[in-house]
Amino acid sequence: MLLRAPGVYRAQDDTSLLIEEMYRSGVARGRSVLDVGTGTGALAVAAARAGASQVSGVDLSLRAVLTARFNARLHGTRVTVHRGDLFGPVGGQLFDLVLTNPPYVPSRGGVLPRHRAGRSWDGGPDGRILLDRICAAAPAHLAPGGVLLLVQSELSGEEATLERLAAAGLDATVRVRARIPLGPVLRGRLPFLRRAGLMAPGQEDEGLVVIGAVQPPVSQSPAAT
Ligand SMILES: C[S@@+](CC[C@H](N)C(=O)[O-])C[C@H]1O[C@@H](n2cnc3c(N)ncnc32)[C@H](O)[C@@H]1O
Repeated sequence: MLLRAPGVYRAQDDTSLLIEEMYRSGVARGRSVLDVGTGTGALAVAAARAGASQVSGVDLSLRAVLTARFNARLHGTRVTVHRGDLFGPVGGQLFDLVLTNPPYVPSRGGVLPRHRAGRSWDGGPDGRILLDRICAAAPAHLAPGGVLLLVQSELSGEEATLERLAAAGLDATVRVRARIPLGPVLRGRLPFLRRAGLMAPGQEDEGLVVIGAVQPPVSQSPAAT
C-alpha cells in the first residue's frame, strides 16, 4: 500500500506495467536505480524491494517528494528523494537502471503546468515535451550496460522515442504492449484528442508501451590512433 498526499499521482496501470517489466527482466537486483518523476515513490520502492543496491528518486513536486520519502520508510526501504527537474538533482551520477513514467498525455499549449495536478500527466501538444527531454538526457546518466525503462502512451509517439534513443546510441525496443480502458484524464480530453486525430471516434481504450533501452556495455567511441 502507498500513501498519497492530495495532488500526487495515484499509481495506475502505467505504473504497474513498468514495475512488472522491471521484475520480469530482473534488471534491478544489485543495481543502482534512478526513478525520474517518482510521484508516490511507487517505482522507487518497488526497485528497492526488488533488491536494488541503491535507489534515488526525483520529482518537481514537493508534495510528491515528501510522499515518496514517507512511502519508502513505510516499506522499510532506503530511497533518496530529491526535489528538482528531471536529472538536474543527480548531476553527473550514473545509474544501472533509470525508470520513468513521465507526463505524456497530449495537452493544450506549449507550457507545462508546474503547480497543478496536470503536472503529473500533461505532455504538451504531442505529449512529448518531457519524453523528448528524457530521451536526450537519459543516455548521459546510464552506466555502461545500463538500462532505461520508460512507459508511455501510443498517443505520444513510440516511434519518436525509439528513434531518439537509438540516435543517442542505445539499443531501444518495445518490451510490453497493453490496452487499458480510458481513464478520466483522457475522457475529459476526447474532443481535443479527436480534433488532433489522435483518437478515433468511438475509441474506448488506450495503448501503453514499455520501452527498454540499453546503453552499450563499453564505450563505442573510435579507438585513439
Ligand atoms: C505520471 S506521474 C508518475 C508517478 C510515479 N512514478 C508512478 O509511476 O506512479 C509523473 C510524475 O512526474 C513528476 N514530474 C513532472 N514534471 C517533472 C519534471 N520536470 N521533473 C521531475 N518530475 C516531474 C510529476 O510531479 C509526477 O509525480
